[in-house]
Order: sequence, then C-alpha cells, then structure tokens
Amino acid sequence: MRHIIYFSNSAVTSGKALSDGNLMKAGRMDIAIHSFIQGVFLSHGFREDVNFHFIFYGMPDPPKHIEIRVTPELEISKKDVGNLIKRILYKYKAGEKTEVLPGCFIEKKSFLHVIEELLDKDVECFILEKGGESLREAKIQKECAFIIGDHEGFPRKELKRLKKSLTPISIGPKMYFASQVVAVVNNELDNRGI
Ligand SMILES: C[S@@+](CC[C@H](N)C(=O)[O-])C[C@H]1O[C@@H](n2cnc3c(N)ncnc32)[C@H](O)[C@@H]1O
Repeated sequence: MRHIIYFSNSAVTSGKALSDGNLMKAGRMDIAIHSFIQGVFLSHGFREDVNFHFIFYGMPDPPKHIEIRVTPELEISKKDVGNLIKRILYKYKAGEKTEVLPGCFIEKKSFLHVIEELLDKDVECFILEKGGESLREAKIQKECAFIIGDHEGFPRKELKRLKKSLTPISIGPKMYFASQVVAVVNNELDNRGI
C-alpha cells in the first residue's frame, strides 16, 4: 500500500469553515484538493492502492486527520473534492475515528502520531524536501508513505523531529507545487512497479 500524507498548518478543520466555498480563504484548501487529485485520480479511473491522508492544523478545531482510500463504493468526482472534504469534516465525532463514507475516515490525531502509527505498522516513511536524497536513487519498499507539505512547508519543530527518524527525499532541484510532487512520486512508484 502506498500512503500519501498531505500536511497543512492552515487548512480549516470544520465543515462550517469550508462552507462559504472560498477554498483559498479556507487555509489554501485548493492546494489540498489539487494534491488529492494527483494522488488518487487517473485518466480513466482511480488509484485503489493509495491511502491519501490529510492532516489539517487550521482553525477552529485542530488537528484533524482525514484518510481516504478510493473504492468502487465511493462516489467521487474530481470536480467535487472540496464538497467531499466538507462532508467528511461535518461528520467528525469527538473521541472516535468515524467512517463517514466508504473508505473515508476522520479523527482527531496529531501529525506525529499519524506518522508513528505508520512506522509501527512497518510502513517506510519519507519526508519530501528539496534538499533530500534523490527519489530516483532511493530504495523504496512496497509499504511506503510520502509526506508532503503545503505552500508553507512543515513547521520547524515537527520537521526537526521527523528528520531524526525519516529519510528526506527530493524530486529535483526546484521548489515544486505540492501537487506536482505527488504526481512525480506516483509516477516513480508506477515505473518501479511498487
Ligand atoms: C510549495 S512547496 C513548500 C514551499 C515552502 N515555502 C517551503 O519552503 O517548504 C510544497 C511542498 O512540496 C514539497 N516539495 C517541493 N519541492 C520539492 C522538491 N524539489 N523535492 C521534494 N519535495 C518538494 C515539500 O514537501 C514542500 O513542503
């Protein structure tokens, strides 16, 4: 299983905060949506082998961990990802991990806790950073996770902690959009048959 983890320090954490439809004002939810589209959509189908995680730290109720694995039971359209995220946020229930729609879960869980849980399940986690080791040279196992930041990257404190245990990986010498990074990672893994 391939995991893609999108972290945002500003993406909003309630359905109401997303309800006026202005995605840019909702903590750059537009970037989260573009990254998700590159993460799970294909030209004529979906990536059913990708678990996409959003970790949102914006107002009013951070942190929120949303996990989406597209299955044939989930009705989903590339044009409506904002509404999907809004519906999931609206259905959050304190103290539990709720399956809001088939394969779509929400819970309150910190960034570091999500990563620790994956590491405990022997998922190899990589943090995406311009200055990291080349993605093309990296050894990558089948159970893997790629952590990508939003327009502001990662908070300094979390980054320092993550870099102690995870390998930073770079896709190239430029600073790319988060969604471009997701597309390149997916393509590399596809070519390797991972
Ligand atoms: C638009 S960039 C963030 C820019 C932000 N100002 C910063 O300094 O981190 C969004 C995310 O894409 C990833 N990224 C961008 N360029 C990359 C590269 N060359 N290699 C690996 N990851 C990259 C990083 O995870 C980054 O947090």
